[in-house]
Amino acid sequence: MIREMRAAIFDLDGVIVDTAHYHYLAWKRLAQDLGFDFSEAENERLKGVSRTRSLEILLEIGGLTMDEDARARAAARKNAWYVEYLAHLDASEILPGAAEYLHSLRGRGVKTALGSASKNAPLILARLGLTPLFEAIVDGNMVSRAKPDPEVFLRAARQLRTPPASCIVFEDAEAGIQAALRAGMGAVGVGRPETLKTADMVIEGLYQLNALLGIRSSA
Ligand code: BG6
Ligand code: MG
Repeated sequence: MIREMRAAIFDLDGVIVDTAHYHYLAWKRLAQDLGFDFSEAENERLKGVSRTRSLEILLEIGGLTMDEDARARAAARKNAWYVEYLAHLDASEILPGAAEYLHSLRGRGVKTALGSASKNAPLILARLGLTPLFEAIVDGNMVSRAKPDPEVFLRAARQLRTPPASCIVFEDAEAGIQAALRAGMGAVGVGRPETLKTADMVIEGLYQLNALLGIRSSA
């Protein structure tokens, strides 16, 4: 379907910045503390998934069960380590072309929003110096239903006062693509076509769109 893009809504982790490695290090540390190992391949299952659900998957991998209090404490420990790793995050970790593409959209009058499952999204955007490039920021603190539920993207569209059919979502996780499609938005997958099968189109990274528009991307 051809549509006019009046608003662009971006996922954060894996689209704007590569934080997956820091999430992995923090989950691995928790797993080791609990007495089992956690591989990078297993970490793929946690991408795009909320913190609570990620912990459930991790415990399933380790063959452990925990009551609700213990789960809340474990998730808080993981997050404290993750935030510790984020202390070193800076603009050099913005994914290639992301900042330039955001600037170009703003220059062309396209509205921009963030639609992320992460409760750390405001902190991460601030560390990257990207906060001013988003007119609306919807993060994991503001939604009650995780992707693939469309809530996060619908809220972003509402904040931008743009009908869903005029919004395009940029996402690296299949759950996020599903959420975009359920919201009635266009869905651009950022990653590999094999894993993002239902997206309207798939690109390797935002730098590819800059190339089409003749904009230089940072390395
Ligand atoms: C998503 C990540 O963006 O945010 C997931 O892809 C992560 O891996 C989720 O679990 C929640 O993040 P946070 O920062 O609230 O723990
Ligand atoms: Mg993501």
